Amino acid sequence: MIRVRIPATTANMGPGFDTLGMALNLYNEIEIEKKRGKTEIYNNGQKSKDDYKENLIYTSLTKTLDMYNYEYNGFYINVSRCDIPISRGLGSSAACIVGGVAAANALMGNIMSTDKTIQVATEIEGHPDNIVPAIVGGMVISLQEGEKISYSKVQFPHKLKFAAMIPNFQVNTAISREMLPKSYLKEDCIFNISRSAMLISALYNGEFDKLRTCFSDRIHQPYRKPLIKNAEIILEKVKEIGAIGEFISGSGSTLMAVIEAKNAERFEKEAKSFLDSLEDEWKIILLDPDMEGVKVSSC
Ligand code: HSE
Repeated sequence: MIRVRIPATTANMGPGFDTLGMALNLYNEIEIEKKRGKTEIYNNGQKSKDDYKENLIYTSLTKTLDMYNYEYNGFYINVSRCDIPISRGLGSSAACIVGGVAAANALMGNIMSTDKTIQVATEIEGHPDNIVPAIVGGMVISLQEGEKISYSKVQFPHKLKFAAMIPNFQVNTAISREMLPKSYLKEDCIFNISRSAMLISALYNGEFDKLRTCFSDRIHQPYRKPLIKNAEIILEKVKEIGAIGEFISGSGSTLMAVIEAKNAERFEKEAKSFLDSLEDEWKIILLDPDMEGVKVSSC
């Protein structure tokens, strides 16, 4: 049996729409085994009633195996750990895709390079910003040139942590992508290019005072905030209680605050007390970067 552990990811990170992403220490784990006959999918040992042909782990697994003409006739798939909340902007779809593609590669005897794994998984997802950090770990800049994905890792300061604020409602990525305009004003493009470029160097240089400006964005967040009830007041509040930057995680609904590790406990307490006063059962989780990316083992 193959066991795959995949980290959560936060994509965009403010100005880096479809480009920047970071792996986080929150995980899903999948167990996969070849089986004669029909495929069965389990969630923590409980048999799923959903059609397995619609399951993203299964479709990503079999699409990869089919590319290499690898023969199979059924699978046992068990999601043994599912800590990444679904459709909340923390890379739950990327985790299913990366899990399926990485398991296929392990079944075939690890014939795919990391670049090929990234290419296949990105083709399934449509954009690389969750996929690449889920595979290689850390904070990553990704870009696409035709089919080829290039990426570069960013040095992220140890002194920083993330506070993920997660409501009980989901945001559908396809719908939230439809909210975005087809074209942008030149000044909005300059706004984002300048912020994403300075974000990378401010992180590298430890210039925390510049991060607030650097996490701002005019490409996607202004159009998506209406999908996230109370986003505006939460983002204002976290600024007031000491976040050094804040943004919508992926396409939402999670809101992310970047905080200094030394302030984490106080920040969590104050943010929790504010979130508890709102509707929608907002939860807060403190997270650190995951530096390993996807991990595959035999069990
Ligand atoms: N970059 C993507 C978006 C991440 O913002 O739509 C969500 O999959």
